[in-house]
Amino acid sequence: MRFLSTLCAVTGALGATSWIAPGAVWYDTDGQKIDAHGGSIVQRGDTFYWVGQSASSNETPMMYSSTDLLSWKNLGKQASSVTGLWRPKIAKPNGSFWLYGQQDRYVLSLKSTQMVGDYSNVNKVYLPPSDYSYSDTGMFYDEASTTWYLLTSADHNTVQINKINSDGTVGARVSAVTGGAYEAPGLFFAGGVYFLIVSGKTGWRANPNKVFTATSLSGPWTGGSNIAPESEKTYNSQNTFELTVKGSQQTTYIYMGDAWDSKGSTGSNYVWLPMAVDPSAKTVTLQYHAMWKVDVGTGVVSYPTTKKRYATRDAKISRRAINFCPSPDLNPCVRVLTNSTSVNPGEEIAFHNVTGTGARQWLSLHFTVNNPEAGQAHMIVNDEVQPMNISDLNSRAGHHGVVPVQLVLKPGDANTLRLGASGASDFEVSVDGVELYED
Ligand code: GLA
Repeated sequence: MRFLSTLCAVTGALGATSWIAPGAVWYDTDGQKIDAHGGSIVQRGDTFYWVGQSASSNETPMMYSSTDLLSWKNLGKQASSVTGLWRPKIAKPNGSFWLYGQQDRYVLSLKSTQMVGDYSNVNKVYLPPSDYSYSDTGMFYDEASTTWYLLTSADHNTVQINKINSDGTVGARVSAVTGGAYEAPGLFFAGGVYFLIVSGKTGWRANPNKVFTATSLSGPWTGGSNIAPESEKTYNSQNTFELTVKGSQQTTYIYMGDAWDSKGSTGSNYVWLPMAVDPSAKTVTLQYHAMWKVDVGTGVVSYPTTKKRYATRDAKISRRAINFCPSPDLNPCVRVLTNSTSVNPGEEIAFHNVTGTGARQWLSLHFTVNNPEAGQAHMIVNDEVQPMNISDLNSRAGHHGVVPVQLVLKPGDANTLRLGASGASDFEVSVDGVELYED
């Protein structure tokens, strides 16, 4: 972060976010990291409003707005005296605007006469029917009954669904998922089926999130299948909300998850992915892509094309990085960096003549590691003195072979990126190349 902010200050250029990159640091239109965790989105007209808990301001609700789901403007704290409000969710059960979240294991509800700002406390209650305390808040608007529903992971491991009454109070429980310890609920409706996504209970550590289905909000809820391959742990994320984008050509269902750091603090990022939804098989499968976006007008999902590729074959190796490029013509060509300092001190692979725009731009670093727990790949940009852990720019680093990051490089072709390894003595980073994308 340090060198990025320095470069931004120098160039004054922030650039636009043109892709959703799961796990990558996501900057708002002021160039600050978006701080809205455990959040939800509502669309009003052509504007999307994203509210989440601010990790940098003691979990006060923060709001951002966007018309394309890519560039988000910070609209600030929504109730500056309210802190410790976890997983705030927006609803509009009547003429007012409401935020519901968990505070001290109660449901705290806040109300405003306008969408943005001036929310103040209304109620702080336990959950009907039995005064349950709870942890995680979810929200669903049911178009069929034009009713809002509060989803909670009530204590005793029960995810339950309560109607929100037209006066904004928390109403009767309509159904519950029993038989497993789940939390972080989110719900969407597709093809006549209600899909309820939940996580397991492993604190800030990611686990395989599951989907349950029902043809009525009264249940019964059945299922419990994974929404991503088990070992991916939901691509290192935890569910918070499901967003439906109804376009002119297709409807796209988006999984919104949090990629928490070890404490749920400011290092946490976001993992948003389109979902493949099959109402007959009653399955949901996250469609993992390192970079993607959805056209909110048409609903169509697209992916970037490569503008330029810097292959490891052409990169300069310093010291004694192991060379797996026996012939310049052979493909693929991978070079392995290790951190065995006694053998290969400070080894690096340097990519020279990388083209910069002078504004924040996307690059993807292509590398794998032998053990994500054993170390980190690091990077030095141009003359920076401090190496930066790539996982600080994208928490998928080490877990996926294509690691998009946003950097501000000097305009022109004079940039150098140097990759290295830091960590245990047996930690290895196998580097394949660097790609620049269309903006
Ligand atoms: C669970 C919750 C998170 C957070 C952590 C704290 O994972 O879903 O929102 O409260 O526990 O351990």
